Amino acid sequence: MPALVVENLHVHYGAIHAVRGVSFTVESGEIVSIVGSNGAGKSTIMWTLARVVPLTGGTILLEGAPLPDLPHLVVERGVALVPERRRLFSALSVRENLVMGAYNRKDPAGAARDMERCFTLFPILKQRLAQLAGTLSGGEQQMLAISRALMSSPRVLLLDEPSLGLAPMIVETLMETILKIRDEGMTVLLVEQNAAQALDISDRGYIMETGRIVKSGTGRELSDDPDIRRVYLGG
Ligand SMILES: Nc1ncnc2c1ncn2[C@@H]1O[C@H](COP(=O)(O)OP(=O)(O)OP(=O)(O)O)[C@@H](O)[C@H]1O
Ligand SMILES: [Mg+2]
Repeated sequence: MPALVVENLHVHYGAIHAVRGVSFTVESGEIVSIVGSNGAGKSTIMWTLARVVPLTGGTILLEGAPLPDLPHLVVERGVALVPERRRLFSALSVRENLVMGAYNRKDPAGAARDMERCFTLFPILKQRLAQLAGTLSGGEQQMLAISRALMSSPRVLLLDEPSLGLAPMIVETLMETILKIRDEGMTVLLVEQNAAQALDISDRGYIMETGRIVKSGTGRELSDDPDIRRVYLGG
């Protein structure tokens, strides 16, 4: 059963029609990316999946059932968003940010295990537990943002522009970690302007332009497509 099925999704901000009839599927255990330039509507889709921004049309199924319509219920049903620009609690410590990620859990032992798992993925965080999140480097902040999401023990991880503002080498390590997380059983929906690196690790991808999906295929098909190479991959 697919993890996510989005059908004919529409989202408006007042008169602005930001998402115009978007349909896509994410199978369980896949990395699927949505690639597109500034203002295409990628983040709007993510906030809609998190039930923070209301949809104005269409349907969303999570593992075959309607997506719950409140943000905390979405988290409880196993979907966690890593928002664009991380949105950490910058005046809280690394440990406190991780604890916030587990706010909905009633199994302290499971949360403690998941914190250890985050330290396995991102060992640097263990050394920075007492440091304020706002003083971490950009790469460390992204690691913390992903870890905070993992602390809710999700089955579906929504990653909005994780590579934003990071040096190429750090992006490469981050992408390898996303693959590792997928290999451990996670379903990942990844949104990126950075088409090359996103398509590189994706099982499948969708290309989005001004509110619409204009192309889809496997990660390989899309990164080999001459039109996509010209527009998104610099020729
Ligand atoms: N809160 C808002 N109020 C009004 N318009 C908005 C709001 N948020 C986004 N928009 C508009 O909706 C459209 C889609 O924006 P969105 O942030 O989803 O794009 P994006 O693909 O994530 O872009 P980027 O790659 O720059 O992050 C844009 O035209 C944007 O100006
Ligand atoms: Mg965005």
